[in-house]
Amino acid sequence: MGSTGATATADDLRRVLLFPLPYQGHINPMFQLAGLLHSRGFAITVFHTHFNAPDASRHPDYHFVPVPGDGGMPTPAGDSSPDTVQATVKHVLAVNRACEAPFRELLAGLLARQPEREEDVACLVADAHLMTMLDVARELGVPTMALRTSSAARFRFFTAFPMLCDKGYLPARQESSSELDDAPVVELPPYRVGDLPSACSAAAHVNMREVISRAVTAVMTSSGLILNTFDALESDELASLRRDLPTAVPLFDVGPLHKLSPAASSSLLRQDRGCIDWLDAQPQGSVLYVSFGSLASMSSSDFEETAWGIAGSGRHFLWVLRPGLVPGAGAGEPPPLPDGFDAAAGGRCVVVRWAPQEEVLAHAAVGAFWTHCGWNSTVEAVCAGVPMLCSPCIGDQMGNARYVVDVWRNGLMLAGGEIERGKVAAVAALMGEGADELRRRAMELKSSAAESIGEAGSSSIMVDKLILELQRKRV
Ligand code: UDX
Repeated sequence: MGSTGATATADDLRRVLLFPLPYQGHINPMFQLAGLLHSRGFAITVFHTHFNAPDASRHPDYHFVPVPGDGGMPTPAGDSSPDTVQATVKHVLAVNRACEAPFRELLAGLLARQPEREEDVACLVADAHLMTMLDVARELGVPTMALRTSSAARFRFFTAFPMLCDKGYLPARQESSSELDDAPVVELPPYRVGDLPSACSAAAHVNMREVISRAVTAVMTSSGLILNTFDALESDELASLRRDLPTAVPLFDVGPLHKLSPAASSSLLRQDRGCIDWLDAQPQGSVLYVSFGSLASMSSSDFEETAWGIAGSGRHFLWVLRPGLVPGAGAGEPPPLPDGFDAAAGGRCVVVRWAPQEEVLAHAAVGAFWTHCGWNSTVEAVCAGVPMLCSPCIGDQMGNARYVVDVWRNGLMLAGGEIERGKVAAVAALMGEGADELRRRAMELKSSAAESIGEAGSSSIMVDKLILELQRKRV
Protein backbone atom coordinates (compact mmCIF):
# COMPACT_ATOMS: atom_id res chain seq x y z
CA MET A 1 0.00 0.00 0.00
CA GLY A 2 1.31 3.46 -0.85
CA SER A 3 1.19 6.18 1.79
CA THR A 4 3.06 9.09 3.18
CA GLY A 5 3.45 6.78 6.19
CA ALA A 6 1.88 8.87 8.95
CA THR A 7 2.20 6.84 12.14
CA ALA A 8 1.90 7.58 15.84
CA THR A 9 5.31 8.18 17.45
CA ALA A 10 6.44 6.72 20.77
CA ASP A 11 5.94 9.99 22.65
CA ASP A 12 2.56 10.56 21.04
CA LEU A 13 0.78 7.27 21.75
CA ARG A 14 -2.91 7.19 21.12
CA ARG A 15 -5.61 4.62 21.84
CA VAL A 16 -8.61 4.31 19.56
CA LEU A 17 -11.77 2.81 21.02
CA LEU A 18 -13.88 0.77 18.60
CA PHE A 19 -17.42 -0.57 18.92
CA PRO A 20 -18.75 -2.71 16.04
CA LEU A 21 -22.42 -3.51 15.48
CA PRO A 22 -22.58 -7.26 16.20
CA TYR A 23 -23.22 -8.61 12.70
CA GLN A 24 -20.66 -10.26 10.45
CA GLY A 25 -20.98 -7.66 7.68
CA HIS A 26 -20.31 -4.89 10.24
CA ILE A 27 -17.68 -6.69 12.34
CA ASN A 28 -15.39 -7.42 9.36
CA PRO A 29 -14.85 -3.80 8.22
CA MET A 30 -14.46 -2.61 11.84
CA PHE A 31 -11.71 -5.17 12.48
CA GLN A 32 -10.10 -4.30 9.14
CA LEU A 33 -10.04 -0.68 10.31
CA ALA A 34 -8.61 -1.82 13.65
CA GLY A 35 -5.82 -3.69 11.82
CA LEU A 36 -5.04 -0.63 9.74
CA LEU A 37 -4.91 1.72 12.74
CA HIS A 38 -2.87 -0.74 14.78
CA SER A 39 -0.34 -1.05 11.96
CA ARG A 40 0.04 2.75 12.11
CA GLY A 41 0.89 2.74 15.80
CA PHE A 42 -2.47 3.13 17.55
CA ALA A 43 -3.40 1.01 20.55
CA ILE A 44 -6.81 -0.61 20.10
CA THR A 45 -9.64 -1.21 22.55
CA VAL A 46 -12.68 -3.10 21.23
CA PHE A 47 -16.00 -2.81 23.07
CA HIS A 48 -18.36 -5.60 22.09
CA THR A 49 -21.72 -7.12 22.87
CA HIS A 50 -22.36 -10.56 24.30
CA PHE A 51 -24.17 -11.50 21.06
CA ASN A 52 -21.68 -12.40 18.28
CA ALA A 53 -18.71 -11.58 20.53
CA PRO A 54 -15.39 -11.53 18.64
CA ASP A 55 -12.70 -14.11 19.36
CA ALA A 56 -10.20 -12.11 21.44
CA SER A 57 -7.55 -14.84 21.12
CA ARG A 58 -7.10 -13.96 17.42
CA HIS A 59 -6.11 -10.39 18.33
CA PRO A 60 -3.68 -10.67 21.24
CA ASP A 61 -2.54 -7.04 20.90
CA TYR A 62 -6.01 -5.57 21.38
CA HIS A 63 -7.79 -4.85 24.62
CA PHE A 64 -11.34 -6.26 24.65
CA VAL A 65 -14.15 -4.90 26.83
CA PRO A 66 -17.36 -6.96 26.93
CA VAL A 67 -20.41 -4.72 27.39
CA PRO A 68 -23.06 -6.63 29.34
CA GLY A 69 -26.73 -5.88 28.83
CA ASP A 70 -27.68 -7.68 25.67
CA GLY A 71 -27.33 -11.20 27.12
CA GLY A 72 -30.68 -12.97 27.19
CA MET A 73 -32.17 -10.44 24.77
CA PRO A 74 -33.92 -11.90 21.69
CA THR A 75 -31.52 -11.99 18.73
CA PRO A 76 -32.65 -11.46 15.12
CA ALA A 77 -32.56 -15.23 14.58
CA GLY A 78 -34.67 -15.78 17.70
CA ASP A 79 -37.22 -13.09 16.77
CA SER A 80 -40.62 -14.47 15.80
CA SER A 81 -40.98 -11.85 13.06
CA PRO A 82 -40.99 -13.46 9.61
CA ASP A 83 -39.24 -10.36 8.24
CA THR A 84 -35.42 -10.31 8.54
CA VAL A 85 -35.28 -6.51 8.14
CA GLN A 86 -37.86 -5.95 10.87
CA ALA A 87 -36.11 -8.43 13.21
CA THR A 88 -32.74 -6.79 12.57
CA VAL A 89 -34.02 -3.23 13.01
CA LYS A 90 -35.72 -4.22 16.29
CA HIS A 91 -32.50 -5.88 17.43
CA VAL A 92 -30.41 -2.81 16.58
CA LEU A 93 -32.74 -0.59 18.66
CA ALA A 94 -32.71 -3.11 21.52
CA VAL A 95 -28.87 -3.37 21.51
CA ASN A 96 -28.66 0.42 21.73
CA ARG A 97 -31.05 0.49 24.70
CA ALA A 98 -29.51 -2.47 26.50
CA CYS A 99 -25.88 -1.37 26.19
CA GLU A 100 -26.34 2.32 27.04
CA ALA A 101 -25.96 2.18 30.84
CA PRO A 102 -23.20 -0.48 30.98
CA PHE A 103 -21.25 1.24 28.20
CA ARG A 104 -21.49 4.59 30.03
CA GLU A 105 -20.13 2.99 33.20
CA LEU A 106 -17.33 1.13 31.41
CA LEU A 107 -16.26 4.15 29.37
CA ALA A 108 -16.32 6.46 32.40
CA GLY A 109 -14.19 3.90 34.30
CA LEU A 110 -11.71 3.65 31.43
CA LEU A 111 -11.39 7.44 31.25
CA ALA A 112 -10.93 7.69 35.03
CA ARG A 113 -8.03 5.22 34.80
CA GLN A 114 -6.52 7.01 31.80
CA PRO A 115 -3.61 8.63 33.70
CA GLU A 116 -2.38 5.10 34.57
CA ARG A 117 -2.18 4.20 30.90
CA GLU A 118 0.64 5.17 28.64
CA GLU A 119 -1.61 6.20 25.77
CA ASP A 120 -4.26 8.92 25.59
CA VAL A 121 -7.69 8.01 24.26
CA ALA A 122 -8.01 9.73 20.90
CA CYS A 123 -11.49 8.86 19.81
CA LEU A 124 -14.35 6.36 19.74
CA VAL A 125 -15.04 4.93 16.30
CA ALA A 126 -18.42 3.19 16.51
CA ASP A 127 -20.71 1.73 13.90
CA ALA A 128 -23.14 4.48 12.86
CA HIS A 129 -26.00 2.20 13.98
CA LEU A 130 -24.70 2.28 17.56
CA MET A 131 -26.04 5.81 17.79
CA THR A 132 -26.62 5.69 21.56
CA MET A 133 -22.98 4.72 22.20
CA LEU A 134 -21.82 7.64 20.06
CA ASP A 135 -24.09 9.97 22.12
CA VAL A 136 -22.77 8.55 25.41
CA ALA A 137 -19.14 9.03 24.35
CA ARG A 138 -19.76 12.64 23.34
CA GLU A 139 -21.50 13.30 26.67
CA LEU A 140 -18.37 12.00 28.42
CA GLY A 141 -16.17 14.30 26.33
CA VAL A 142 -14.79 11.62 23.98
CA PRO A 143 -14.49 12.67 20.31
CA THR A 144 -16.43 10.33 18.02
CA MET A 145 -16.25 9.10 14.45
CA ALA A 146 -18.89 6.95 12.77
CA LEU A 147 -18.01 3.98 10.59
CA ARG A 148 -20.65 3.15 8.02
CA THR A 149 -20.13 -0.31 6.57
CA SER A 150 -22.20 0.18 3.42
CA SER A 151 -21.77 2.36 0.35
CA ALA A 152 -21.69 6.15 0.02
CA ALA A 153 -24.84 5.84 -2.10
CA ARG A 154 -26.56 4.07 0.75
CA PHE A 155 -25.86 6.99 3.10
CA ARG A 156 -27.28 9.37 0.47
CA PHE A 157 -30.41 7.21 0.53
CA PHE A 158 -30.49 7.52 4.35
CA THR A 159 -30.31 11.31 4.17
CA ALA A 160 -33.00 11.30 1.45
CA PHE A 161 -35.34 9.02 3.45
CA PRO A 162 -37.68 11.81 4.73
CA MET A 163 -37.96 13.27 1.22
CA LEU A 164 -38.74 9.82 -0.21
CA CYS A 165 -41.52 9.45 2.40
CA ASP A 166 -42.89 12.93 1.58
CA LYS A 167 -42.92 12.13 -2.14
CA GLY A 168 -44.82 8.90 -1.52
CA TYR A 169 -42.05 6.45 -2.55
CA LEU A 170 -41.96 5.11 1.01
CA PRO A 171 -43.30 3.12 2.70
CA ALA A 172 -43.14 0.92 -0.37
CA ARG A 173 -46.48 -0.41 -1.54
CA GLN A 174 -47.21 -4.01 -0.60
CA GLU A 175 -48.65 -4.81 -4.02
CA SER A 176 -45.73 -4.47 -6.42
CA SER A 177 -45.71 -4.81 -10.19
CA SER A 178 -42.73 -4.98 -12.51
CA GLU A 179 -43.87 -1.70 -14.11
CA LEU A 180 -43.87 0.10 -10.75
CA ASP A 181 -40.63 -1.57 -9.57
CA ASP A 182 -38.84 -0.49 -12.75
CA ALA A 183 -39.93 3.16 -12.47
CA PRO A 184 -36.98 5.49 -11.76
CA VAL A 185 -36.62 7.27 -8.44
CA VAL A 186 -36.20 10.57 -10.26
CA GLU A 187 -34.80 12.38 -7.22
CA LEU A 188 -32.21 9.69 -6.47
CA PRO A 189 -30.72 8.11 -9.58
CA PRO A 190 -29.82 5.37 -10.43
CA TYR A 191 -32.30 3.79 -8.01
CA ARG A 192 -35.58 2.38 -9.20
CA VAL A 193 -38.68 2.09 -7.04
CA GLY A 194 -38.13 -1.65 -6.52
CA ASP A 195 -34.65 -0.96 -5.11
CA LEU A 196 -36.04 0.94 -2.11
CA PRO A 197 -36.15 -1.24 0.99
CA SER A 198 -39.68 -2.12 1.97
CA ALA A 199 -40.97 -2.63 5.49
CA CYS A 200 -43.68 -5.26 5.68
CA SER A 201 -45.88 -3.37 8.17
CA ALA A 202 -46.58 0.15 9.44
CA ALA A 203 -44.80 -0.70 12.71
CA ALA A 204 -41.75 -1.95 10.80
CA HIS A 205 -41.68 1.28 8.79
CA VAL A 206 -41.75 3.36 11.99
CA ASN A 207 -38.82 1.36 13.42
CA MET A 208 -36.87 1.64 10.18
CA ARG A 209 -37.48 5.39 10.06
CA GLU A 210 -36.24 5.74 13.66
CA VAL A 211 -33.03 3.79 13.01
CA ILE A 212 -32.30 5.68 9.80
CA SER A 213 -32.99 9.11 11.28
CA ARG A 214 -30.89 8.40 14.38
CA ALA A 215 -28.04 6.92 12.31
CA VAL A 216 -27.99 10.09 10.17
CA THR A 217 -27.94 12.28 13.29
CA ALA A 218 -25.14 10.13 14.74
CA VAL A 219 -23.03 10.87 11.67
CA MET A 220 -23.93 14.56 11.48
CA THR A 221 -22.98 15.13 15.14
CA SER A 222 -19.75 13.12 15.01
CA SER A 223 -16.36 14.51 14.11
CA GLY A 224 -15.80 12.27 11.12
CA LEU A 225 -17.44 9.72 8.82
CA ILE A 226 -15.44 6.68 7.68
CA LEU A 227 -16.65 4.77 4.62
CA ASN A 228 -15.43 1.49 3.14
CA THR A 229 -15.47 2.73 -0.44
CA PHE A 230 -13.10 4.51 -2.81
CA ASP A 231 -13.26 7.50 -5.06
CA ALA A 232 -13.13 5.77 -8.45
CA LEU A 233 -16.06 3.56 -7.46
CA GLU A 234 -18.42 6.21 -6.09
CA SER A 235 -16.97 9.57 -7.06
CA ASP A 236 -20.32 11.37 -7.66
CA GLU A 237 -21.85 9.99 -4.48
CA LEU A 238 -18.80 10.96 -2.41
CA ALA A 239 -18.74 14.45 -3.91
CA SER A 240 -22.41 14.88 -3.12
CA LEU A 241 -21.90 13.70 0.48
CA ARG A 242 -18.97 16.10 0.91
CA ARG A 243 -21.26 18.94 -0.16
CA ASP A 244 -23.99 17.89 2.28
CA LEU A 245 -22.00 16.99 5.40
CA PRO A 246 -21.31 19.75 7.96
CA THR A 247 -17.75 21.07 7.67
CA ALA A 248 -17.06 19.67 11.14
CA VAL A 249 -17.64 16.15 9.77
CA PRO A 250 -14.81 15.25 7.39
CA LEU A 251 -15.40 12.23 5.19
CA PHE A 252 -12.73 9.53 4.95
CA ASP A 253 -13.31 7.12 2.05
CA VAL A 254 -10.62 4.64 2.98
CA GLY A 255 -11.77 1.50 1.17
CA PRO A 256 -11.29 -1.21 0.17
CA LEU A 257 -10.47 -1.84 3.84
CA HIS A 258 -9.85 -5.59 3.43
CA LYS A 259 -7.00 -4.76 1.06
CA LEU A 260 -5.45 -2.20 3.40
CA SER A 261 -5.51 -4.13 6.59
CA PRO A 262 -3.25 -6.86 7.88
CA ALA A 263 -6.13 -7.88 10.21
CA ALA A 264 -6.54 -11.46 11.39
CA SER A 265 -9.86 -13.01 10.40
CA SER A 266 -12.88 -11.75 12.31
CA SER A 267 -15.15 -14.47 10.95
CA LEU A 268 -17.77 -15.62 13.45
CA LEU A 269 -18.14 -18.98 11.69
CA ARG A 270 -15.24 -21.33 11.05
CA GLN A 271 -14.08 -20.87 7.46
CA ASP A 272 -13.72 -24.20 5.66
CA ARG A 273 -10.36 -23.98 3.92
CA GLY A 274 -10.77 -27.39 2.28
CA CYS A 275 -12.47 -25.69 -0.64
CA ILE A 276 -9.22 -23.89 -1.55
CA ASP A 277 -7.56 -27.27 -2.30
CA TRP A 278 -10.51 -28.11 -4.56
CA LEU A 279 -10.25 -24.71 -6.32
CA ASP A 280 -6.52 -25.34 -6.87
CA ALA A 281 -7.46 -28.32 -9.02
CA GLN A 282 -9.99 -26.44 -11.21
CA PRO A 283 -9.22 -24.69 -14.54
CA GLN A 284 -8.90 -20.92 -14.56
CA GLY A 285 -12.20 -18.99 -14.49
CA SER A 286 -14.27 -22.19 -14.49
CA VAL A 287 -15.99 -22.06 -11.07
CA LEU A 288 -19.17 -20.28 -10.07
CA TYR A 289 -18.96 -19.17 -6.43
CA VAL A 290 -22.39 -18.92 -4.76
CA SER A 291 -22.92 -17.21 -1.41
CA PHE A 292 -25.67 -15.08 0.08
CA GLY A 293 -23.80 -13.60 3.07
CA SER A 294 -24.56 -13.82 6.74
CA LEU A 295 -28.10 -12.43 7.06
CA ALA A 296 -30.09 -13.05 3.88
CA SER A 297 -32.50 -15.95 3.87
CA MET A 298 -34.62 -17.65 1.21
CA SER A 299 -37.82 -19.69 1.09
CA SER A 300 -37.50 -23.44 0.72
CA SER A 301 -38.97 -23.25 -2.80
CA ASP A 302 -36.41 -20.59 -3.87
CA PHE A 303 -33.69 -22.75 -2.29
CA GLU A 304 -34.80 -25.75 -4.30
CA GLU A 305 -34.95 -23.76 -7.55
CA THR A 306 -31.51 -22.33 -6.81
CA ALA A 307 -30.13 -25.84 -6.26
CA TRP A 308 -31.57 -27.14 -9.54
CA GLY A 309 -30.54 -23.98 -11.35
CA ILE A 310 -26.88 -24.25 -10.42
CA ALA A 311 -26.87 -27.98 -10.99
CA GLY A 312 -28.44 -27.37 -14.43
CA SER A 313 -25.92 -24.67 -15.37
CA GLY A 314 -23.41 -27.39 -16.15
CA ARG A 315 -20.70 -25.40 -14.38
CA HIS A 316 -18.44 -26.33 -11.51
CA PHE A 317 -19.48 -24.49 -8.41
CA LEU A 318 -18.64 -23.76 -4.82
CA TRP A 319 -21.76 -23.08 -2.75
CA VAL A 320 -21.89 -21.63 0.76
CA LEU A 321 -24.84 -23.14 2.60
CA ARG A 322 -24.82 -21.62 6.06
CA PRO A 323 -27.14 -22.77 8.84
CA GLY A 324 -30.23 -20.52 8.83
CA LEU A 325 -30.14 -19.79 5.08
CA VAL A 326 -33.60 -21.35 4.83
CA PRO A 327 -35.49 -20.43 8.01
CA GLY A 328 -36.88 -23.50 9.73
CA ALA A 329 -34.83 -25.95 7.62
CA GLY A 330 -31.80 -27.78 8.94
CA ALA A 331 -32.27 -27.26 12.71
CA GLY A 332 -28.97 -25.46 13.29
CA GLU A 333 -27.38 -27.24 10.34
CA PRO A 334 -27.33 -26.11 6.68
CA PRO A 335 -30.59 -26.83 4.81
CA PRO A 336 -30.63 -30.32 3.28
CA LEU A 337 -30.12 -30.45 -0.49
CA PRO A 338 -33.06 -31.75 -2.57
CA ASP A 339 -33.24 -35.47 -3.33
CA GLY A 340 -31.34 -36.32 -6.49
CA PHE A 341 -29.15 -33.19 -6.32
CA ASP A 342 -25.91 -35.12 -5.89
CA ALA A 343 -26.63 -37.24 -8.93
CA ALA A 344 -27.54 -34.15 -10.99
CA ALA A 345 -24.55 -32.07 -9.97
CA GLY A 346 -22.18 -35.00 -10.40
CA GLY A 347 -18.68 -34.32 -9.12
CA ARG A 348 -18.95 -30.67 -10.13
CA CYS A 349 -19.90 -29.19 -6.82
CA VAL A 350 -18.44 -28.45 -3.42
CA VAL A 351 -20.76 -27.28 -0.64
CA VAL A 352 -19.38 -25.63 2.53
CA ARG A 353 -21.02 -24.03 5.58
CA TRP A 354 -18.76 -20.95 5.37
CA ALA A 355 -15.83 -20.16 3.08
CA PRO A 356 -12.70 -18.00 3.32
CA GLN A 357 -14.49 -15.64 0.93
CA GLU A 358 -11.78 -13.07 0.19
CA GLU A 359 -9.39 -15.90 -0.73
CA VAL A 360 -12.04 -17.68 -2.78
CA LEU A 361 -12.88 -14.57 -4.81
CA ALA A 362 -9.19 -13.88 -5.42
CA HIS A 363 -8.61 -17.47 -6.63
CA ALA A 364 -7.86 -17.81 -10.35
CA ALA A 365 -10.34 -20.69 -10.71
CA VAL A 366 -13.33 -18.50 -9.76
CA GLY A 367 -15.01 -17.08 -12.86
CA ALA A 368 -18.20 -15.57 -11.44
CA PHE A 369 -19.96 -14.83 -8.15
CA TRP A 370 -23.65 -15.37 -7.58
CA THR A 371 -24.25 -13.01 -4.68
CA HIS A 372 -26.84 -11.27 -2.51
CA CYS A 373 -24.79 -8.05 -3.03
CA GLY A 374 -24.01 -7.29 0.61
CA TRP A 375 -21.62 -4.35 0.54
CA ASN A 376 -18.58 -6.31 1.74
CA SER A 377 -19.18 -9.04 -0.82
CA THR A 378 -19.65 -6.44 -3.55
CA VAL A 379 -16.39 -4.62 -2.68
CA GLU A 380 -14.52 -7.94 -2.36
CA ALA A 381 -15.75 -9.03 -5.82
CA VAL A 382 -14.83 -5.65 -7.33
CA CYS A 383 -11.29 -5.94 -5.94
CA ALA A 384 -10.96 -9.48 -7.27
CA GLY A 385 -12.25 -8.55 -10.75
CA VAL A 386 -15.01 -11.17 -10.59
CA PRO A 387 -18.31 -10.50 -12.45
CA MET A 388 -21.49 -10.86 -10.40
CA LEU A 389 -24.91 -12.43 -10.77
CA CYS A 390 -27.03 -10.37 -8.39
CA SER A 391 -29.93 -11.65 -6.35
CA PRO A 392 -30.36 -9.00 -3.68
CA CYS A 393 -32.64 -9.78 -0.73
CA ILE A 394 -32.86 -7.02 1.86
CA GLY A 395 -31.70 -3.61 3.04
CA ASP A 396 -28.95 -2.02 0.95
CA GLN A 397 -28.52 -5.07 -1.28
CA MET A 398 -31.03 -3.99 -3.97
CA GLY A 399 -29.29 -0.63 -4.26
CA ASN A 400 -25.84 -2.25 -4.43
CA ALA A 401 -27.09 -4.56 -7.19
CA ARG A 402 -28.45 -1.55 -9.12
CA TYR A 403 -24.97 -0.02 -9.14
CA VAL A 404 -23.39 -3.32 -10.25
CA VAL A 405 -25.79 -3.73 -13.13
CA ASP A 406 -26.44 -0.17 -14.35
CA VAL A 407 -23.47 1.95 -13.22
CA TRP A 408 -20.40 -0.27 -12.95
CA ARG A 409 -21.74 -2.81 -15.47
CA ASN A 410 -19.75 -5.69 -13.98
CA GLY A 411 -22.74 -7.95 -13.35
CA LEU A 412 -26.22 -9.10 -14.30
CA MET A 413 -29.44 -8.96 -12.29
CA LEU A 414 -31.33 -12.15 -11.60
CA ALA A 415 -34.89 -10.87 -12.01
CA GLY A 416 -36.83 -10.57 -8.77
CA GLY A 417 -39.71 -12.68 -7.56
CA GLU A 418 -39.66 -16.42 -7.72
CA ILE A 419 -36.40 -17.86 -8.97
CA GLU A 420 -37.11 -20.02 -11.98
CA ARG A 421 -34.87 -22.84 -13.03
CA GLY A 422 -34.61 -21.47 -16.57
CA LYS A 423 -33.35 -18.10 -15.37
CA VAL A 424 -30.91 -19.59 -12.96
CA ALA A 425 -29.52 -21.79 -15.67
CA ALA A 426 -28.70 -18.52 -17.44
CA VAL A 427 -25.70 -18.48 -15.09
CA ALA A 428 -24.00 -19.88 -18.16
CA ALA A 429 -24.45 -16.47 -19.78
CA LEU A 430 -22.34 -14.87 -17.09
CA MET A 431 -19.49 -17.29 -17.66
CA GLY A 432 -19.76 -17.87 -21.41
CA GLU A 433 -18.22 -16.05 -24.36
CA GLY A 434 -21.03 -13.47 -24.44
CA ALA A 435 -19.85 -12.13 -21.11
CA ASP A 436 -16.58 -10.65 -22.40
CA GLU A 437 -17.74 -7.09 -21.76
CA LEU A 438 -18.72 -7.92 -18.15
CA ARG A 439 -15.32 -9.46 -17.55
CA ARG A 440 -13.57 -6.46 -19.12
CA ARG A 441 -15.46 -4.07 -16.81
CA ALA A 442 -14.74 -6.28 -13.81
CA MET A 443 -11.00 -6.15 -14.59
CA GLU A 444 -11.12 -2.37 -15.07
CA LEU A 445 -12.70 -1.95 -11.65
CA LYS A 446 -10.12 -4.29 -10.12
CA SER A 447 -7.37 -2.02 -11.50
CA SER A 448 -9.01 1.13 -10.16
CA ALA A 449 -9.36 -0.48 -6.71
CA ALA A 450 -5.64 -1.37 -6.79
CA GLU A 451 -4.76 2.17 -7.90
CA SER A 452 -6.77 3.70 -5.06
CA ILE A 453 -4.55 2.00 -2.48
CA GLY A 454 -1.32 2.44 -4.43
CA GLU A 455 1.26 5.20 -4.15
CA ALA A 456 -0.66 8.51 -4.06
CA GLY A 457 -3.95 6.65 -4.61
CA SER A 458 -7.13 8.34 -3.36
CA SER A 459 -7.64 5.92 -0.46
CA SER A 460 -3.96 6.00 0.57
CA ILE A 461 -4.25 9.78 0.85
CA MET A 462 -7.47 9.46 2.84
CA VAL A 463 -5.90 6.94 5.22
CA ASP A 464 -3.09 9.39 5.95
CA LYS A 465 -5.61 12.16 6.55
CA LEU A 466 -7.53 9.91 8.93
CA ILE A 467 -4.36 9.02 10.86
CA LEU A 468 -3.41 12.69 11.21
CA GLU A 469 -6.95 13.56 12.33
CA LEU A 470 -6.86 10.82 14.98
CA GLN A 471 -3.44 11.95 16.20
CA ARG A 472 -4.87 15.43 16.76
CA LYS A 473 -7.78 14.12 18.82
CA ARG A 474 -7.58 13.84 22.58
CA VAL A 475 -10.15 13.48 25.34
C1 UDX B 1 -25.07 -7.15 5.73
C2 UDX B 1 -25.55 -6.35 4.50
O1 UDX B 1 -26.01 -7.22 3.51
C3 UDX B 1 -24.44 -5.49 3.99
O2 UDX B 1 -24.78 -4.87 2.78
C4 UDX B 1 -24.13 -4.50 5.05
O3 UDX B 1 -23.24 -3.53 4.59
C5 UDX B 1 -23.59 -5.27 6.23
O4 UDX B 1 -24.58 -6.20 6.67
P1 UDX B 1 -23.95 -9.52 5.05
O5 UDX B 1 -25.26 -10.05 4.65
O6 UDX B 1 -23.23 -10.28 6.06
O7 UDX B 1 -23.98 -8.00 5.48
O8 UDX B 1 -23.08 -9.44 3.69
P2 UDX B 1 -21.71 -8.79 3.37
O9 UDX B 1 -21.72 -7.32 3.56
O10 UDX B 1 -21.37 -9.26 2.02
O11 UDX B 1 -20.68 -9.39 4.45
C6 UDX B 1 -20.41 -10.74 4.56
C7 UDX B 1 -18.98 -10.93 4.98
O12 UDX B 1 -18.82 -12.29 5.36
C8 UDX B 1 -17.97 -10.63 3.90
O13 UDX B 1 -16.87 -9.91 4.42
C9 UDX B 1 -17.52 -12.00 3.42
O14 UDX B 1 -16.18 -12.07 3.01
C10 UDX B 1 -17.73 -12.85 4.66
N1 UDX B 1 -18.05 -14.24 4.29
C11 UDX B 1 -19.18 -14.53 3.59
C12 UDX B 1 -17.16 -15.23 4.63
O15 UDX B 1 -16.12 -14.98 5.25
N2 UDX B 1 -17.48 -16.51 4.26
C13 UDX B 1 -18.60 -16.83 3.56
O16 UDX B 1 -18.79 -18.02 3.30
C14 UDX B 1 -19.49 -15.81 3.23
